[in-house]
Amino acid sequence: MARPSVIAIDGPAASGKSTLGQRLAEALGYLYFDTGVMYRAVTLAALRRGVDPNDEAAVTRLAEVVHIDVVPPTVADGRQYTVLLDGEDVTWDLRQPEVDAWVSPVSAYPGVRAALLSQQRRIAAGGRVVMVGRDIGTVVLPNADLKIYLDASLEERARRRYKEMMARGQSASYEEVLQSMRRRDEIDSRRATAPLRPAPDAVVIDSTTMDADAVLKHVLKLVEGADDHDGK
Ligand code: CDP
Repeated sequence: MARPSVIAIDGPAASGKSTLGQRLAEALGYLYFDTGVMYRAVTLAALRRGVDPNDEAAVTRLAEVVHIDVVPPTVADGRQYTVLLDGEDVTWDLRQPEVDAWVSPVSAYPGVRAALLSQQRRIAAGGRVVMVGRDIGTVVLPNADLKIYLDASLEERARRRYKEMMARGQSASYEEVLQSMRRRDEIDSRRATAPLRPAPDAVVIDSTTMDADAVLKHVLKLVEGADDHDGK
Protein backbone atom coordinates (compact mmCIF):
# COMPACT_ATOMS: atom_id res chain seq x y z
CA MET A 1 0.00 0.00 0.00
CA ALA A 2 1.25 3.49 -0.79
CA ARG A 3 1.45 6.21 1.84
CA PRO A 4 -2.09 7.38 2.63
CA SER A 5 -2.87 10.51 0.64
CA VAL A 6 -6.32 11.36 2.00
CA ILE A 7 -6.44 11.26 5.80
CA ALA A 8 -9.68 11.77 7.76
CA ILE A 9 -9.67 12.71 11.44
CA ASP A 10 -12.95 12.74 13.37
CA GLY A 11 -13.90 12.93 17.01
CA PRO A 12 -15.72 14.97 19.67
CA ALA A 13 -14.91 18.54 20.72
CA ALA A 14 -11.42 19.24 22.06
CA SER A 15 -10.19 15.68 21.60
CA GLY A 16 -7.06 17.10 19.97
CA LYS A 17 -8.13 16.77 16.33
CA SER A 18 -6.97 20.17 15.19
CA THR A 19 -3.58 19.92 16.91
CA LEU A 20 -3.03 16.46 15.45
CA GLY A 21 -4.36 17.50 12.05
CA GLN A 22 -2.12 20.50 11.75
CA ARG A 23 1.02 18.76 12.94
CA LEU A 24 0.41 15.67 10.84
CA ALA A 25 -0.19 17.75 7.72
CA GLU A 26 2.98 19.71 8.41
CA ALA A 27 5.02 16.53 8.90
CA LEU A 28 3.74 15.05 5.64
CA GLY A 29 3.67 18.27 3.60
CA TYR A 30 -0.11 17.93 3.12
CA LEU A 31 -2.93 20.47 3.20
CA TYR A 32 -4.66 20.75 6.59
CA PHE A 33 -8.36 21.53 6.51
CA ASP A 34 -10.60 21.90 9.56
CA THR A 35 -14.24 21.56 8.46
CA GLY A 36 -15.51 22.78 11.86
CA VAL A 37 -14.69 26.36 10.86
CA MET A 38 -17.19 26.17 8.01
CA TYR A 39 -20.03 25.25 10.39
CA ARG A 40 -18.85 27.94 12.79
CA ALA A 41 -18.74 30.52 9.99
CA VAL A 42 -22.34 29.77 8.94
CA THR A 43 -23.40 30.06 12.60
CA LEU A 44 -21.59 33.38 13.04
CA ALA A 45 -23.10 34.70 9.80
CA ALA A 46 -26.60 33.89 11.10
CA LEU A 47 -25.96 35.53 14.47
CA ARG A 48 -24.53 38.66 12.85
CA ARG A 49 -27.29 39.06 10.31
CA GLY A 50 -30.06 38.59 12.82
CA VAL A 51 -31.14 35.28 11.26
CA ASP A 52 -32.79 33.14 13.96
CA PRO A 53 -30.57 30.02 14.33
CA ASN A 54 -33.76 28.02 14.97
CA ASP A 55 -35.09 28.96 11.54
CA GLU A 56 -33.83 26.00 9.51
CA ALA A 57 -34.94 27.32 6.12
CA ALA A 58 -33.35 30.74 6.64
CA VAL A 59 -30.07 29.30 7.99
CA THR A 60 -29.93 26.84 5.10
CA ARG A 61 -30.39 29.65 2.56
CA LEU A 62 -27.61 31.54 4.28
CA ALA A 63 -25.26 28.50 4.14
CA GLU A 64 -25.90 28.33 0.40
CA VAL A 65 -24.87 31.93 -0.25
CA VAL A 66 -22.19 32.93 2.28
CA HIS A 67 -18.66 32.94 1.07
CA ILE A 68 -16.20 31.16 3.37
CA ASP A 69 -12.48 31.17 2.60
CA VAL A 70 -9.83 29.42 4.68
CA VAL A 71 -6.37 30.73 3.83
CA PRO A 72 -2.87 30.51 5.36
CA PRO A 73 -2.47 32.68 8.51
CA THR A 74 -2.49 36.41 7.67
CA VAL A 75 -1.58 37.43 11.24
CA ALA A 76 1.06 35.80 13.47
CA ASP A 77 -1.10 35.50 16.60
CA GLY A 78 -1.08 31.75 17.11
CA ARG A 79 -3.84 31.00 14.58
CA GLN A 80 -3.64 27.87 12.40
CA TYR A 81 -5.29 29.63 9.44
CA THR A 82 -7.28 32.75 8.63
CA VAL A 83 -11.00 32.39 8.01
CA LEU A 84 -12.70 35.00 5.83
CA LEU A 85 -16.47 35.37 5.92
CA ASP A 86 -17.53 37.34 2.86
CA GLY A 87 -14.01 38.77 2.85
CA GLU A 88 -13.86 39.75 6.54
CA ASP A 89 -11.35 38.13 8.92
CA VAL A 90 -13.50 36.30 11.52
CA THR A 91 -10.87 33.77 12.68
CA TRP A 92 -11.21 34.50 16.40
CA ASP A 93 -14.89 35.48 16.32
CA LEU A 94 -15.62 31.86 15.43
CA ARG A 95 -14.52 30.86 18.97
CA GLN A 96 -17.06 33.06 20.80
CA PRO A 97 -19.23 31.21 23.34
CA GLU A 98 -22.32 32.26 21.39
CA VAL A 99 -21.01 30.41 18.34
CA ASP A 100 -20.19 27.40 20.56
CA ALA A 101 -23.76 27.48 21.86
CA TRP A 102 -25.41 27.51 18.40
CA VAL A 103 -23.03 25.64 16.13
CA SER A 104 -24.34 22.15 16.87
CA PRO A 105 -28.03 22.94 16.24
CA VAL A 106 -27.01 24.68 13.00
CA SER A 107 -24.81 21.73 11.98
CA ALA A 108 -27.72 19.33 12.41
CA TYR A 109 -29.65 20.93 9.51
CA PRO A 110 -29.34 18.62 6.48
CA GLY A 111 -29.45 21.57 4.05
CA VAL A 112 -26.53 23.26 5.80
CA ARG A 113 -24.52 20.03 5.62
CA ALA A 114 -25.35 19.55 1.93
CA ALA A 115 -24.20 23.09 1.14
CA LEU A 116 -20.83 22.51 2.81
CA LEU A 117 -20.31 18.89 1.73
CA SER A 118 -19.61 19.66 -1.92
CA GLN A 119 -17.09 22.36 -0.95
CA GLN A 120 -15.32 19.91 1.38
CA ARG A 121 -15.12 17.21 -1.29
CA ARG A 122 -13.73 19.72 -3.77
CA ILE A 123 -11.00 20.73 -1.30
CA ALA A 124 -9.98 17.07 -0.79
CA ALA A 125 -10.17 16.09 -4.44
CA GLY A 126 -6.50 16.79 -5.11
CA GLY A 127 -5.33 14.38 -2.38
CA ARG A 128 -2.42 15.00 0.04
CA VAL A 129 -4.87 16.35 2.56
CA VAL A 130 -5.65 15.92 6.26
CA MET A 131 -9.32 16.77 6.79
CA VAL A 132 -10.71 17.15 10.29
CA GLY A 133 -14.32 17.11 11.50
CA ARG A 134 -17.16 14.89 12.73
CA ASP A 135 -18.27 13.01 9.62
CA ILE A 136 -15.20 13.02 7.37
CA GLY A 137 -14.55 9.26 7.50
CA THR A 138 -18.24 8.33 7.48
CA VAL A 139 -19.80 10.75 4.96
CA VAL A 140 -17.51 13.32 3.38
CA LEU A 141 -14.60 11.07 2.39
CA PRO A 142 -15.73 7.45 2.88
CA ASN A 143 -12.85 6.30 0.66
CA ALA A 144 -10.16 8.07 2.71
CA ASP A 145 -6.91 6.08 2.82
CA LEU A 146 -6.55 6.43 6.59
CA LYS A 147 -9.28 7.23 9.11
CA ILE A 148 -8.54 8.25 12.67
CA TYR A 149 -11.20 8.67 15.36
CA LEU A 150 -9.66 10.66 18.19
CA ASP A 151 -11.43 10.52 21.54
CA ALA A 152 -10.77 11.45 25.18
CA SER A 153 -12.88 11.56 28.34
CA LEU A 154 -15.35 14.44 28.63
CA GLU A 155 -13.57 15.81 31.71
CA GLU A 156 -10.16 15.80 30.03
CA ARG A 157 -11.55 17.46 26.91
CA ALA A 158 -13.24 20.15 29.00
CA ARG A 159 -9.95 20.76 30.80
CA ARG A 160 -8.13 21.22 27.49
CA ARG A 161 -10.77 23.59 26.10
CA TYR A 162 -10.84 25.56 29.38
CA LYS A 163 -7.06 26.00 29.24
CA GLU A 164 -7.26 27.15 25.61
CA MET A 165 -9.92 29.72 26.49
CA MET A 166 -7.94 31.05 29.47
CA ALA A 167 -4.85 31.40 27.25
CA ARG A 168 -6.94 33.49 24.83
CA GLY A 169 -8.17 35.69 27.68
CA GLN A 170 -11.77 34.48 27.39
CA SER A 171 -13.74 34.25 30.60
CA ALA A 172 -15.61 31.07 31.47
CA SER A 173 -15.75 28.60 34.31
CA TYR A 174 -14.62 25.00 33.90
CA GLU A 175 -18.15 23.90 34.77
CA GLU A 176 -19.65 26.06 31.97
CA VAL A 177 -17.17 24.68 29.45
CA LEU A 178 -17.97 21.12 30.52
CA GLN A 179 -21.74 21.66 30.23
CA SER A 180 -21.51 23.38 26.84
CA MET A 181 -19.31 20.59 25.51
CA ARG A 182 -21.56 17.83 26.86
CA ARG A 183 -24.55 19.45 25.18
CA ARG A 184 -22.71 19.82 21.86
CA ASP A 185 -21.47 16.20 21.94
CA GLU A 186 -25.03 15.01 22.55
CA ILE A 187 -26.49 16.97 19.63
CA ASP A 188 -23.61 15.95 17.33
CA SER A 189 -23.98 12.25 18.19
CA ARG A 190 -27.76 12.07 18.09
CA ARG A 191 -28.55 14.01 14.95
CA ALA A 192 -30.11 12.09 12.05
CA THR A 193 -27.78 13.40 9.34
CA ALA A 194 -24.09 12.49 9.56
CA PRO A 195 -23.93 11.87 13.33
CA LEU A 196 -20.59 11.81 15.13
CA ARG A 197 -19.40 8.20 15.25
CA PRO A 198 -16.29 6.28 14.23
CA ALA A 199 -16.34 4.84 10.70
CA PRO A 200 -16.20 1.01 10.83
CA ASP A 201 -12.69 1.12 9.36
CA ALA A 202 -11.39 3.97 11.56
CA VAL A 203 -8.49 3.55 13.96
CA VAL A 204 -9.84 4.70 17.33
CA ILE A 205 -7.33 6.48 19.56
CA ASP A 206 -8.15 7.44 23.16
CA SER A 207 -5.94 10.42 23.96
CA THR A 208 -7.12 10.91 27.57
CA THR A 209 -3.67 10.15 28.95
CA MET A 210 -1.63 11.00 25.85
CA ASP A 211 -0.06 14.37 25.09
CA ALA A 212 -0.03 15.88 21.61
CA ASP A 213 3.46 14.53 20.83
CA ALA A 214 2.45 10.98 21.74
CA VAL A 215 -0.65 11.13 19.57
CA LEU A 216 1.30 12.47 16.58
CA LYS A 217 3.98 9.79 16.97
CA HIS A 218 1.36 7.07 17.11
CA VAL A 219 -0.40 8.33 13.97
CA LEU A 220 2.87 8.81 12.06
CA LYS A 221 3.59 5.15 12.79
CA LEU A 222 0.22 4.20 11.30
CA VAL A 223 1.01 6.30 8.23
CA GLU A 224 4.42 4.71 7.86
CA GLY A 225 3.02 1.25 8.60
CA ALA A 226 0.71 1.64 5.63
CA ASP A 227 3.75 2.72 3.62
CA ASP A 228 5.83 -0.31 4.70
CA HIS A 229 3.44 -2.83 3.16
CA ASP A 230 4.69 -1.53 -0.16
CA GLY A 231 7.63 -3.90 0.19
CA LYS A 232 10.07 -1.09 -0.53
O1 CDP B 1 -12.99 22.61 17.98
P1 CDP B 1 -14.21 21.85 18.38
O2 CDP B 1 -13.98 20.38 18.36
O3 CDP B 1 -14.82 22.33 19.66
O4 CDP B 1 -15.35 22.16 17.34
P2 CDP B 1 -15.26 22.22 15.76
O5 CDP B 1 -14.48 21.08 15.23
O6 CDP B 1 -14.88 23.60 15.35
O7 CDP B 1 -16.79 21.95 15.36
C1 CDP B 1 -17.82 22.77 15.84
C2 CDP B 1 -19.16 22.08 15.58
O8 CDP B 1 -19.38 22.00 14.17
C3 CDP B 1 -19.28 20.65 16.08
O9 CDP B 1 -19.70 20.57 17.43
C4 CDP B 1 -20.34 20.08 15.13
O10 CDP B 1 -21.64 20.40 15.57
C5 CDP B 1 -20.09 20.82 13.84
N1 CDP B 1 -19.31 20.04 12.85
C6 CDP B 1 -19.99 19.10 12.10
O11 CDP B 1 -21.17 18.90 12.29
N2 CDP B 1 -19.34 18.40 11.12
C7 CDP B 1 -18.03 18.60 10.89
N3 CDP B 1 -17.43 17.91 9.91
C8 CDP B 1 -17.30 19.52 11.66
C9 CDP B 1 -17.98 20.23 12.65
